[in-house]
Amino acid sequence: MKKLVIANWKMNPENIKDAKKIFADLKKKNLKIKKTIPVICPPFTYLDEISGSYRGSAYKFGAQDVSDKKDGEQTGEISIEMLKNLKCQYVIVGHAERRALGEDNETVSLKTKAVIDSGLKAVVCVGENDRDHGGSYLRFIEEELHESLSKIKKDKTKNLVIAYEPIWAVGKGHDAISGHELHQISLFIRKVLVGIYGKKIGMNVPVIYGGSVDADNSEEIINTGEVDGLLVGRASLNPHVFADILKELEK
Ligand code: PGA
Repeated sequence: MKKLVIANWKMNPENIKDAKKIFADLKKKNLKIKKTIPVICPPFTYLDEISGSYRGSAYKFGAQDVSDKKDGEQTGEISIEMLKNLKCQYVIVGHAERRALGEDNETVSLKTKAVIDSGLKAVVCVGENDRDHGGSYLRFIEEELHESLSKIKKDKTKNLVIAYEPIWAVGKGHDAISGHELHQISLFIRKVLVGIYGKKIGMNVPVIYGGSVDADNSEEIINTGEVDGLLVGRASLNPHVFADILKELEK
């Protein structure tokens, strides 16, 4: 299976010129993209220009969020149809930073269903705030998975990706999880998915990792952690570092 490498630019950079430069510098690397699927997720306001000007096929595009509603009366929201018109194939759903703004599992499940029903791929984020010795974080992840996927039936899982992002590892000043710890969690997530969808599907839904991924830890995270890809925040804004991550996974 090809490794999915999602570049989550979040609310960066400040202007379209810089956004175009990041993508232009990345393309200039002329990487041989064979074993990975890099997905660029810029802010909505840059998506059109970045994806619209791309003539190749190696890079795919995604959005960082979407509305689950079809009705146009939704001030400030972006619809799935709008994204489809922008060559967008992936949508990150339920990122920790959206959940921190109040998005709950019910909303995540509605968005996930809307994304999948429309034929786009949903990258559903789950992950605990912190860890305890009693293991209640495992129950938290299990519940988040069950509730966030409550509206996704077995026959709709082809376009489902799970991103495990422990909140304590995401963003400035944090460290990524160790490959060993990640391996335990990736097995746990598989077990929960097998419980929900049965062995055949549960073992095949891609599970990726996000949280302080950079060029130095990407190899360990993928190989020791046994995940199917990466969700990269800060490091994806630097085209040289992001290219190094892709190179590592293309080896
Ligand atoms: P980070 O962010 O790589 O900057 O920790 C990851 C994410 O939030 O998707």
